[in-house]
Amino acid sequence: MSLSISVFGLGYVGSVSAACFASMGHQVIGVDVNPAKVETMESGRSPIIEASMSELVAEGHRAGRLHATIDSTAAVLESDGSFVCVGTPSLRNGKLDLSHIEKVAREIGAALKQKKSGHTIVLRSTVLPGTTESMVLPVIEQASGRRAGIDFTVAYNPEFMREGSAVADFLQPPYTILGAQDASHLALLRELYRQTPGKVFETSVGVAEMVKYLSNAFHAVKVTFANEVGTLCKHLGVDAQAVTEIFTSDTRLNVSPAYLSPGFAFGGSCLPKDVRALTYKAKELDLKLPMLESLLPSNAEHVERAVEAVMRTNKRKIAHLGLSFKAGTDDLRESPQVQLVKRLLGEGYEVKVWDQDVSLGRLAGSNRQYIEEVIPHIGSLLSADLEDVLNWGEVVIIGNKSVKKAELSTHLRKEQIVIDLVNLDKALRSDGTSSYEGICW
Ligand SMILES: NC(=O)c1ccc[n+]([C@@H]2O[C@H](COP(=O)([O-])OP(=O)(O)OC[C@H]3O[C@@H](n4cnc5c(N)ncnc54)[C@H](O)[C@@H]3O)[C@@H](O)[C@H]2O)c1
Repeated sequence: MSLSISVFGLGYVGSVSAACFASMGHQVIGVDVNPAKVETMESGRSPIIEASMSELVAEGHRAGRLHATIDSTAAVLESDGSFVCVGTPSLRNGKLDLSHIEKVAREIGAALKQKKSGHTIVLRSTVLPGTTESMVLPVIEQASGRRAGIDFTVAYNPEFMREGSAVADFLQPPYTILGAQDASHLALLRELYRQTPGKVFETSVGVAEMVKYLSNAFHAVKVTFANEVGTLCKHLGVDAQAVTEIFTSDTRLNVSPAYLSPGFAFGGSCLPKDVRALTYKAKELDLKLPMLESLLPSNAEHVERAVEAVMRTNKRKIAHLGLSFKAGTDDLRESPQVQLVKRLLGEGYEVKVWDQDVSLGRLAGSNRQYIEEVIPHIGSLLSADLEDVLNWGEVVIIGNKSVKKAELSTHLRKEQIVIDLVNLDKALRSDGTSSYEGICW
């Protein structure tokens, strides 16, 4: 089915979106405040330099499917939906400048006053979570005198294209994300992306907004990580390209979802020690590698977040389930759970610890030595009786995944507060057996 859409902002995202939607058979009107961009597109030429754009714009123009105007009211009245693709640059202090978004929202709202039929407004510009619902939506409601969800609908649909391969990325996206308050608000977008390859996620507006930031932040992390590692390799006389080629070939642990779920701090006998060794070596080489140097301080902050979560409860008796850095091991070396228990004891809390894999009698070697140095009296805190520990505690910390959700739920009481460090089971959040707090969700 051919749709009629308007695209606000004929920059990189808007021009490519407009030309690609037209190439998919839809009727498209581009809108920009810059008359030069409007004239360029209206005469069948691309306002931006980008592979395949000249051909796509010329083809859309020839077919009479691609137009451009500075008249925002006409564009809204002549279309079923409007895509907002205007810039969201940084202000001098780093804050996001939403002035262009706000202006467009006002213009669309004013135009909607004259429109009898419904309209869908889709934000494609990158905005922080909450912006669409708490700023764009009310501005349109106010300017139009109409109600969101009834007279018009609002959705968020982030764009993942890269300049240089924008058309190919638009037509073959990694996935399509459609965010709305209600699935019924997505009718126009579903139709528009019916033929688009890749998985389609229908989600809340906030999730859709955040996925875009997560993606860009992660890409920045990857570039910085690769550059810091490359710098270290260079100064150690190691071939950086060879290292990264082998490293990235592991798609099970390295380039994969592994280690990418929000949870508790990293620990164990390897990660902290090896990060410490690398950053120490970098210092010896007089290298500044802020990202690698930030890993241990950031990890320590995460342990502090757990301490603060306990402090907020105003309770004193803490049942800590799971002492080792992950379930299925009795290795306590550099376990952040051990650090947490130590901090809580230091703050004067009473703590009982249950861990089915940890028995002091069985600990040996450097593992035993570690725990004797860090918490010498751990023996008096440890219990093998889960029921006893749970009955005693006012706050229950889920330290690792060694406890089974079913077993836990059986013993939890309404007045207990659960602090989950490992996202044990999503069902725990809503089963109502006690009040629940996730450390970072
Ligand atoms: N460039 C990218 O690769 C890319 C990729 C994904 C997402 N994004 C995001 O998409 C948004 C747009 O980025 P861009 O690079 O296309 O921006 P851009 O600066 O190239 O284009 C923005 C356009 O909006 C126009 N504009 C400003 N106010 C307007 C108004 N009131 N009415 C109509 N047009 C108006 C400007 O004249 C300009 O042509 C940003 O939020 C950006 O973060 C960009």
